[in-house]
Amino acid sequence: MRKPIIAGNWKMNNTVTETLTLLKEITSLDLDKEVEKVVVVPFTSAYSAVDLLKDSDIKVGCQNMYYEESGAYTGEISPLMLNDLGIEYVIIGHSERREIFGEDDNLINNKVISALKHNINPILCCGETLEERENNKQEEKVRNQLINDLKDVSAEDITKVVIAYEPIWAIGTGKTASSNDAEEMCKFIRNLLKELYNEELAEKVRIQYGGSVKPNNVSEIMEKENIDGALVGGASLKADNYAALVNFR
Ligand code: G3H
Repeated sequence: MRKPIIAGNWKMNNTVTETLTLLKEITSLDLDKEVEKVVVVPFTSAYSAVDLLKDSDIKVGCQNMYYEESGAYTGEISPLMLNDLGIEYVIIGHSERREIFGEDDNLINNKVISALKHNINPILCCGETLEERENNKQEEKVRNQLINDLKDVSAEDITKVVIAYEPIWAIGTGKTASSNDAEEMCKFIRNLLKELYNEELAEKVRIQYGGSVKPNNVSEIMEKENIDGALVGGASLKADNYAALVNFR
């Protein structure tokens, strides 16, 4: 049985003050204890978020990291810095990082390997553009991304990776992939993991769907056999919405 995981990716939103206000609201609400809950906050809010949530079962994630431990990498954050804060999850390879900041599969692969080495669970994002979807290239795109991004990830480590399938055309657009399309791609990803590792390990890896997930569509998405969670942007920025996403059952 894979434990469902709902992660709110706040992206570049919320000051420290706003973070504390939102997290206090979230922790005042009833949240399903059987669901793994993550808030993926901006770096500047991470320390405050970890401190505020220390007695809660909500985990804190960050949205990026560099793969080196320290050094002359102006503007970057290292896995040791995330470890020091007690960060358990890091999003790697989000399409916004790939598209706006030019991250390629080689860099993403180095980050995945480094996160695992430092006991931080990567939430590895993949997904196709609208043009690729219209040309029926979504499987080829995701297959290439994952083969490259997971290069040298050991069998022992693969179950610590959460894979987030996020079709780029569905991110922040209000266009959600149909639950059947989302399931089809998540099943494709699980089959790829069977090919790259084995059936037993592939069945243990959690796969999230992301892209305009909201309280009104989360249950239908989460009902699907190969979808184990959601990576949610916009809708996770309000406490009642976050609670409704977590309480999808
Ligand atoms: O990381 C989250 C995804 O990019 C989805 O964002 O829920 O605002 O569409 P969204």
